[in-house]
Amino acid sequence: MRIVRTVADLRETIGGWRAAGETVALIPTMGALHEGHLSLVRLGRDRCRRTVATLFVNPKQFNQASDLAAYPRTEESDAEKLTSIGCDLLFAPDAAEMYPPGFATNVSVRGIGDELEGAARPGHFDGVATVVSKLLLQALPDVAIFGEKDWQQLQVIKRFAADLNIPVTIEGAPTVRDADGLALSSRNVRLMPANRSKAPLLHAVLQRVAVAVRAGADPVEAVQGARRELAAGGFDPIDYVEVRDGTTLGPPGAGPRRVLAAAWLGGVRLIDNIPG
Ligand code: PAF
Repeated sequence: MRIVRTVADLRETIGGWRAAGETVALIPTMGALHEGHLSLVRLGRDRCRRTVATLFVNPKQFNQASDLAAYPRTEESDAEKLTSIGCDLLFAPDAAEMYPPGFATNVSVRGIGDELEGAARPGHFDGVATVVSKLLLQALPDVAIFGEKDWQQLQVIKRFAADLNIPVTIEGAPTVRDADGLALSSRNVRLMPANRSKAPLLHAVLQRVAVAVRAGADPVEAVQGARRELAAGGFDPIDYVEVRDGTTLGPPGAGPRRVLAAAWLGGVRLIDNIPG
């Protein structure tokens, strides 16, 4: 697998593939790769002849400097994992390549981007939308693949890609979970062993809400019960547990619903979601 660090080199490599008539899948990541990320690359390989992973810990999407500083940086082992599953190219730019002096543009998705994660982490989705729109325009892939674990992020990306007429198919890939139900996340390694054993409660509680709501329970009551269960299980604070419309992230309507939650366990913020 080749590693490139500049937009010019990225475009030259992809341009060569395009000239040969090859299709390209893009898998944006912030590194610290786990099986969830690798499943995205495998899906990219199913979809297209060539796969490009990106590794950039995007400072614009962190609203706490301490979170940015603590984010794991493991490029060498990430590159080994990508190589082992046949990824063709890793684009790993530095901050100056992505945000050169004078950079002044912000991509902001109103509505979807203001809810839930957007409310809990002001500026987060502007950072995501800005960097992902740059990555899409730098690589101009046929398909870009994102994990459903970040469900709201996936909806934000689909919205701005459509609004800005970026000629790419945005595809979501199912969340990969440990055997006990905990969604894989780069943050899980920060859980102390005692908290790791408590963490699957988040997924279990979401399942109970989804089953109750599908059976006709009042979503407000189902969510209140879930919050009590999480608090009793050691989650503190609980940022949100919500049943929402799966596309707009507004109040649930006639379309597919999503049950989403974010809560802290021993100083580690966990998020998860499932169909409602
Ligand atoms: O989901 C992530 O890892 C990041 O938000 C993304 C999409 C790579 C943008 O930095």
